[in-house]
Amino acid sequence: MVTTVKELFDAIVVFENNVGKLYDNISDDVKKQYGVFFENMAKDEYRHAKIYKALGDQAQDEEMTLTDPKDVAYVQSLIEGTSFDAEGKLIDDIKGVKSKHQVLDVAERVEREAIQYVFELSRLFPDFAKDQVTILLEEEQNHLQMVLDRKKEAEIGYILL
Ligand SMILES: [Fe+2]
Repeated sequence: MVTTVKELFDAIVVFENNVGKLYDNISDDVKKQYGVFFENMAKDEYRHAKIYKALGDQAQDEEMTLTDPKDVAYVQSLIEGTSFDAEGKLIDDIKGVKSKHQVLDVAERVEREAIQYVFELSRLFPDFAKDQVTILLEEEQNHLQMVLDRKKEAEIGYILL
């Protein structure tokens, strides 16, 4: 069970690095159209992972813990319910996905999960690293919006074919 805030941050660090790896691993077919897009998104995720690592160290120094069992249960559920498993199956599988629609659907899902993590942090600890957390939330929301915009474009292209 997750009881320290450091453990929550550690899980987010793993998550963000996984999202970066996922975006680095998209198939050549999808890279033709969205290569630069996902490359830039991956860079953001790796940068976020470093920020979360530093925030986790800070939370550890401040001995921050989760006390309410309901919070523990929800955070545990967020961590266990992530799209990534320990074996990196999704990251491997994405290499073989040629459909941009499918890749964008996966991107939408993981960006939404990233937002859930940041929302939960800001809900549980509204005063902790407030400025950084606000920026992280905004960047993840921008990511989601950009993915949704590309989904819309792809849909239109699909209809016109
Ligand atoms: Fe993101």
